[in-house]
Amino acid sequence: MQNEFIEKVKQKYGGKKIYYILTMGCQLNENDSEKLAGMLESMGYKPTKNIEDADVIVINTCCIRENAEEKVFGKLGELKKLKLTNNIIIAIGGCMMQEKEMRNKIKQSYPYVDIIFGTHTLHKFPEDLYYVLSNKEKIQDVLEIDGEIHEELPIKRNNTKQASVTIMYGCNNFCSYCIVPYVRGRERSRRPEDIIKEIKDLAEKGYIEITLLGQNVNSYRGKENYGFAELLNDINSIEGIKRIRFISPHPKDFTDDVIKAIKNGENICKLIHLPLQSGSSNVLKAMNRNYTKEQYLSLVEKIKNNIPNATFSTDIIVGFPGETEKDFEDTLDIVKKVNFEQIYMFIYSRRHGTRADKMENQIPEEVKHERFNRLKNLFEHNISKNNQKYIGTIQDILVEGTSKNNANIYTGRTQSNKVVNFEGNKEWIGQFKKIKIIAEHTWYLEGKIDE
Ligand code: SAH
Ligand code: SF4
Ligand code: F3S
Repeated sequence: MQNEFIEKVKQKYGGKKIYYILTMGCQLNENDSEKLAGMLESMGYKPTKNIEDADVIVINTCCIRENAEEKVFGKLGELKKLKLTNNIIIAIGGCMMQEKEMRNKIKQSYPYVDIIFGTHTLHKFPEDLYYVLSNKEKIQDVLEIDGEIHEELPIKRNNTKQASVTIMYGCNNFCSYCIVPYVRGRERSRRPEDIIKEIKDLAEKGYIEITLLGQNVNSYRGKENYGFAELLNDINSIEGIKRIRFISPHPKDFTDDVIKAIKNGENICKLIHLPLQSGSSNVLKAMNRNYTKEQYLSLVEKIKNNIPNATFSTDIIVGFPGETEKDFEDTLDIVKKVNFEQIYMFIYSRRHGTRADKMENQIPEEVKHERFNRLKNLFEHNISKNNQKYIGTIQDILVEGTSKNNANIYTGRTQSNKVVNFEGNKEWIGQFKKIKIIAEHTWYLEGKIDE
């Protein structure tokens, strides 16, 4: 049905029209934006990097923390002038639009927004756009209930070698701080054959690295007796795909068969992103994470014992309600014990409608910031030490392009997702090269071609 609207928009309004998409959220949101771009391009729209040239501006929002939402309002404010001078269409969609209060705020304070769509109605964007173009009216198209899975949407990918593939939608975990289950709905897994077909098509087009996406990938259930481990095994044998990454697994669901699949899958990266959130068993309980400090540490041990070259990265929240100094020290303790390659650190942000928002013992802002800085300092202090293990090793680097600051320096990543800079040449882009690591600079490694 959407194809009909794609054709209609293309014939009546397409042609030299330009679009601009602003993505505020996580990789799942990025992947959704690639689908929006795909739909827009099949309607005849062309991309621009300059927002002022656009006929259609789409903002794909995130509501995981308050600052993500503030950014959206700032941007909408800026767009008012463009709307008045250029007669553009402004569409806003994504997670934040699943919240009723946010939709109302947009309608009240930013009445010049033309299209409001949600996470479950993304696939209907052509229809919504056609409606606005032909009726000259605004539209709100948000479903409160879980949407179905829509396969084979057009897609315009951001990269020609690395691709993201969403394997499941939604989340059932209801961690007490988190808004995602409310805005993304319950878990829905794509069918294995659809995922495999997408990845085989990608391999045929020359893609070599894929990242499997889901809020909790290891609760993927493709069909009976077919979970994440089976999916990893099948993807590992797809010819042409050299690197398989996945985010995020949940520690509580990290089963032995998944460990085995990672271990045996020669194309599966051994960097495991294992979100910790807190090192304190008390806080973990209040967060509804379903594991303790000890269980997290023994899972890390088990993975290391089975996969000797495994490395870890994590997410940590500081300042969860009721977090004591002792609780926070438990977090620091885990950071000392597990040498994380990367830590994504967040200051706890109250989210309306979540259980943690109603807890009474909220932590003062200055304490949250002070703890955040201590965690950051500890990690940064450890990182150079942790980087030493790379010095002198030869790493397979997927060459991604030139460095932002120096066009003569090329950049790529190790299997463990470390950035490596080295002198190279244009032909290497998109290829694997053997690079010897000669120095470390905290956030990146320096290397040279191993001849
Ligand atoms: N499903 C993934 C991650 C989802 S969101 C997982 O469970 O790991 C990414 C990260 O944002 C989370 O891991 C958490 O660290 C952080 N986050 C989620 N809600 C938050 C909140 N209310 N305040 C601060 N950080 C939050
Ligand atoms: Fe949020 Fe927890 Fe679900 Fe991750 S697992 S999306 S943190 S509720
Ligand atoms: Fe992602 Fe933000 Fe939504 S983190 S799932 S875009 S709330």
